[in-house]
Amino acid sequence: MTESIDWDPLRKNAAGRHGGSSAVVHQDDLLWRFIAGLTTLFPAPADVADYYFSDGAKSARMLAAAIDRHSAGGPLSIMEFAAGYGMVTRHLKRVLPNAAITSCDIHEAAVEFLQTEIGVSAVLSEHRPEDLQFAQQYDVVFALSFFSHMPESSFGRWLGALYRNVKPGGLFIFTTHGLASRPNLGDPEIPESGIWFKPLSEQHDIEGAEYGSTLSTPEFVIRELYANTAAPLAEFKAGYWWQHQDLYLARKPCQ
Ligand SMILES: C[S@@+](CC[C@H](N)C(=O)[O-])C[C@H]1O[C@@H](n2cnc3c(N)ncnc32)[C@H](O)[C@@H]1O
Repeated sequence: MTESIDWDPLRKNAAGRHGGSSAVVHQDDLLWRFIAGLTTLFPAPADVADYYFSDGAKSARMLAAAIDRHSAGGPLSIMEFAAGYGMVTRHLKRVLPNAAITSCDIHEAAVEFLQTEIGVSAVLSEHRPEDLQFAQQYDVVFALSFFSHMPESSFGRWLGALYRNVKPGGLFIFTTHGLASRPNLGDPEIPESGIWFKPLSEQHDIEGAEYGSTLSTPEFVIRELYANTAAPLAEFKAGYWWQHQDLYLARKPCQ
């Protein structure tokens, strides 16, 4: 799609129709670029803007619904891990008015944008899960479409690192590319281990071996989850997010 398009009014219009979040989109937002590249699905610029804001709002509502199904209500602290440039974050304050949101990403520009434009607390992540240490634990740690990019070597270590930052009694919620994602990834043959990984992604500034394209079976994920957290799985929904990513929700036992 050409750069000569005047996106501002289209974004403002779409942001207004989908809850009134910030209409500003960062120039490095790869999710925006990905959607804008789907010209068959979204032929008109207004369709791109509409999908970006409506889908972000939908994901925020899906997170709120998942939390509702498993918690008693009241104020919550939420860590949105791998938030990117806030496609979902910008809707969270409205959809979860009782929540204190902190977001996190590996890109410094994203962390700054989340703080200054989206208005949440934001912290910089680490490349190695063992180095990740937040200042507090959270009632909910949420990672949308992060494990859909992790290799076998760090998949379980990231599960362990994020779970460490969940408060006792809190929820760990994440999605993966599961079996329903197979056609989107070119129908790969899944190894017996239950995880398929290609060291290639749209994030050209992160090494492919660290962040690529992953498909993982529920058997693999549940085995890794148990090995790295011993957390009981409270909910699993196959192909639930975007009609193809699997949803996992684990509750940390109260001490
Ligand atoms: C597919 S995007 C998902 C963005 C957002 N969760 C969403 O669904 O709208 C994956 C995100 O993971 C981030 N990421 C990659 N490695 C990371 C790391 N080590 N720690 C935190 N975030 C990371 C990328 O910068 C990117 O924003």
